[in-house]
Amino acid sequence: MKTFQRIIAQISLLAIIIFYITSIESYAFDPPDEYSHQFIGVAKCKMCHKKEKKGFQYEIWRESAHSRAYETLATPDAKELGKKYGVIDPQIDSKCLRCHTTGHDAPSEFKGRKFDISEGVGCESCHGAGGDYYKSKVMKGIRSGRINRERYGLIIPNEDTCKGCHNANAHMPVKEEFNFKIMWAKIAHPIPEG
Ligand code: HEC
Ligand code: HEC
Ligand code: HEC
Ligand code: HEC
Repeated sequence: MKTFQRIIAQISLLAIIIFYITSIESYAFDPPDEYSHQFIGVAKCKMCHKKEKKGFQYEIWRESAHSRAYETLATPDAKELGKKYGVIDPQIDSKCLRCHTTGHDAPSEFKGRKFDISEGVGCESCHGAGGDYYKSKVMKGIRSGRINRERYGLIIPNEDTCKGCHNANAHMPVKEEFNFKIMWAKIAHPIPEG
């Protein structure tokens, strides 16, 4: 009887170990949660978010520093800064790309045909990858509250979103303490009332 119990105990222990190993492996090979939707690029958002009536979101972004964030990495300033961190080419090094581009480390299956790294900090850097929410029906449903935006990957960003990049880990030191009110005012893009 003793031996039988010991065998059962050993089998259960083995089962537990196998369960852990397989779950750790599937965790390691699954893409992280944030990449469960495909990045489609700014051009798609532009189709519906460029008109004055809608609030000119595309133009406001295009005029902002965010649309130039990738180009910036090719400047002499960027190369100089890169040297400090052992970066030879900032435009291909994830040490720089992670804040100066959108979804840079997303696996290729999460990058749509129109995805283009040169768009820098695009809409989807803040609003989440748009592959599932960009369709008119979904967008209207989300706006009216009929559809749960989280299921489709749409993020309504806030100060914490900004601080994911505007923080003391950016080339250290950042120009000045990040002031959300002032910084948001520079790039605000509300939908007009009515
Ligand atoms: C097919 C047209 C279309 C495309 C493409 C599109 N949108 Fe929209 N979007 C809308 C409509 C319609 C609304 C509802 C508000 C309105 O009528 O202006 C909306 C609303 C939103 C809202 C506000 C949601 C809310 O609940 O307040 C955000 C944010 C947004 N879109 C971001 C994006 C981003 C980012 C992209 C690109 C990845 C994108 N949209 C692509 C049509 C579109
Ligand atoms: C994915 C990283 C990232 C996120 C998220 C982000 N930014 Fe930026 N932001 C940058 C980078 C990189 C630059 C510098 C671009 C350049 O000059 O080439 C920048 C520049 C700016 C600038 C222009 C600099 C200035 O002093 O006028 C403003 C304003 C700004 N961001 C506001 C915001 C706000 C507000 C948020 C949140 C709603 C935000 N950013 C979220 C990366 C980010
Ligand atoms: C943690 C996020 C983060 C990382 C990593 C990062 N940057 Fe930046 N970078 C920013 C932000 C945010 C700004 C805008 C700061 C501001 O204006 O307040 C910026 C601005 C810059 C600017 C100045 C743009 C201008 O307005 O003239 C240069 C140049 C630059 N970054 C180069 C680099 C290089 C090169 C690397 C890699 C070695 C790098 N950055 C890594 C977030 C980051
Ligand atoms: C730097 C981060 C950032 C980027 C880049 C960005 N947005 Fe936003 N967006 C925000 C924030 C923050 C809000 C305000 C959320 C709130 O109302 O609380 C917002 C709100 C919106 C809204 C809703 C406005 C309203 O009145 O309800 C729309 C639509 C929108 N963004 C579309 C876009 C599109 C399209 C792009 C690209 C062309 C874009 N955004 C790029 C941060 C960003």
